[in-house]
Amino acid sequence: MQILLLGSGGREHALAWKLAQSPACTRLFIAPGNPGTALCGTNVPVVANDNAAVAAFCRENKIGMVVVGPEEPLVNGLYDYFQSHNDLKETLFIGPSQEGARLEGSKAFAKAFMQRHNIPTAAYREFTEDNYREGVEYLQQHALPVVLKADGLAAGKGVLICHTHVEAIAEFELMIQESKFGEASKRVVVEEFLNGVELSMFVLTDGHDYVILPEAKDYKRIGEGDTGLNTGGMGAVSPVPFATPGFLQKVEERIVKPTIAGLAQEQIPYTGFVFVGLISVEGEPYVIEYNCRMGDPETEVVMPRLKNDLVELLSAAANGKLSTVKVDADPRAAATVVAVSQGYPGPYEKGHEILGIGESYGKQSIVFHAGTREEDGKILTHGGRVFCVTSFGEDIAEAVNTSLDVLEYVRFGEMYYRTDIGYEFRPAYNTPQDDD
Ligand code: AMP
Ligand code: GLY
Repeated sequence: MQILLLGSGGREHALAWKLAQSPACTRLFIAPGNPGTALCGTNVPVVANDNAAVAAFCRENKIGMVVVGPEEPLVNGLYDYFQSHNDLKETLFIGPSQEGARLEGSKAFAKAFMQRHNIPTAAYREFTEDNYREGVEYLQQHALPVVLKADGLAAGKGVLICHTHVEAIAEFELMIQESKFGEASKRVVVEEFLNGVELSMFVLTDGHDYVILPEAKDYKRIGEGDTGLNTGGMGAVSPVPFATPGFLQKVEERIVKPTIAGLAQEQIPYTGFVFVGLISVEGEPYVIEYNCRMGDPETEVVMPRLKNDLVELLSAAANGKLSTVKVDADPRAAATVVAVSQGYPGPYEKGHEILGIGESYGKQSIVFHAGTREEDGKILTHGGRVFCVTSFGEDIAEAVNTSLDVLEYVRFGEMYYRTDIGYEFRPAYNTPQDDD
């Protein structure tokens, strides 16, 4: 089968790497891809957000399966476009309908969905220009901290945790009255702050049946010890030690089952990944957010740990046969550490040559490209998150240390990475150090 994968980040390199290993994949195209995905298949200059261009490419190249990496094409209705054309309907499609993608594309939709299906999540209210005054009054009496979320997609920046009422009301005003996040913040979800530890669950569904992939934890802040600005993700580990079988059972019963049953009951077509961002509050899981795609950099640890043939797994989903499939995970731990451009998530330089990225670092480690480009045979930096190194280990500490060792050899000018990924699970970080 000829497969088209959409996207160009580290997530897509990890997906391409995994898809290309399948004997069922006769040819893999990636649109637009990056120099890393070019090692797994053929990059093609098709704009992933242009439904007609993606469709035309699929027609011309007899594509049997489309796998969508990022959320935008789904929020733009790419699935629905394929369904509305007779000659594309039969193409296996991994990604939900536009309606299903609203689980990620609209926080208010996701919250109302959770409420309808009794899925545990933080208490909330939603506000627009129309009930703005009521919103201000609501905020004035709300417990602190309070969480403000732009309803729409805001490139990961639309969530604010406010520690004073003055700050909360000022931000609320900026979001609704001044369109701080454009159209996305014309509607604002105000929700209760949940205090706990976070993790990411990944579910593959056909809208009726589902399988649960290995869980992961990502590290979003730029600085060591989870400090500083939020980023797209600075590293990830899998498995997550506090996700015990008992906890995972609660997640499946209280969250995964009602989510999939809710999609089916509301007749929302959904074949693809549901990424459930969770918070464990004293061992009880709550949903923080849904995404309609895999996480980045979580995919860079989930795919290496997944032992199943990915094309078989995705075909089972697209053919409604997931009930016959069992997920098999590598028992080893995997960790990924992301190398970013100095300055990220603020302004940063591009165009630095990356040395050592084309080398092999043994069976334990894989280098995934993210923001890179190739010029005259050289690999140059081309984004904030530039590449990541995933390694296996007997435990998380060993996996992270192996990635850190590789990062001594893959380098560019003005490179930065966190050395403390997985710190909660690395004994060296939890043992008090002597001062002398
Ligand atoms: P999101 O953009 O939805 O992934 O949210 C960004 C981050 O904000 C999450 O990863 C959490 O760390 C935090 N967050 C979101 N909602 C809440 C909440 N209700 N309570 C505590 N933290 C939250
Ligand atoms: N790592 C979080 C995300 O992909 O949204």
